[in-house]
Amino acid sequence: MFISFEGIDGSGKSTQLGMLRAWLEERGRTVLTVREPGATHLSESIREILLSNKQTITPTAELLLFSAARTHLVETVIRPALERGDVVLCDRYVDSTTAYQGHGRQLDLEQVALCNRLATQGVLPSLTFFIDVPYDEAQLRMQFHPTGTEPDRMERSGRDFFERVRAGYLSIAASEPQRFVVIPGVQDRTAIHEQICAQIVPMLRG
Ligand code: ADP
Ligand code: TYD
Repeated sequence: MFISFEGIDGSGKSTQLGMLRAWLEERGRTVLTVREPGATHLSESIREILLSNKQTITPTAELLLFSAARTHLVETVIRPALERGDVVLCDRYVDSTTAYQGHGRQLDLEQVALCNRLATQGVLPSLTFFIDVPYDEAQLRMQFHPTGTEPDRMERSGRDFFERVRAGYLSIAASEPQRFVVIPGVQDRTAIHEQICAQIVPMLRG
């Protein structure tokens, strides 16, 4: 079972991923959680480059760097875990590239889709939760984050960029309503968790 979480920065994805992990483990599942970009030595190194404020990166170079980090993660971690029968929970996956590089950076969506196919090698989530939160709410949440640090290179992209990213996610939801589940994110975290679990219960039976 492969499940990914999506949303703009500060929407509460990591919080929900942690809650779902605990819930699944209580039910006897072996769960692997990974974040993107990251989770392997190489992908964490690429993450540092991508998020650092020390340099600018052109949109196409950004697309290729996120994709390189992903394909290494798929080949060395995600695919082997799925083959073992583990549940894989991913904090961001391929929809982030469609939303951020495709809609946010306004790269050609067909080229982004091509790059995504190459990077994922057909390893795709069966369910994706999009925690939908307006930009201002996400900004507020990040401000109060206990490990609150300076905004990274992506987080400095500004309101218009994040409005496009959010609209991009909603267009994915419209085209793939079965897989891509929109969860209204301005709710109590327990209420969100319960809605997520309700979607997973039938998958555990199957
Ligand atoms: P993301 O992984 O999407 O960046 P986080 O899970 O790190 O988001 O959450 C960002 C901040 O918002 C954290 O301080 C977290 O405690 C808080 N948060 C998470 N879920 C909620 C919620 N439903 N309501 C209010 N604050 C939340
Ligand atoms: P991260 O700290 O994981 O995000 P969050 O603040 O939501 O926890 O940072 C990852 C950043 O990279 C985030 O701004 C989204 C962006 N990103 C892309 O632009 N494209 C991608 O394909 C991925 C995986 C992430």
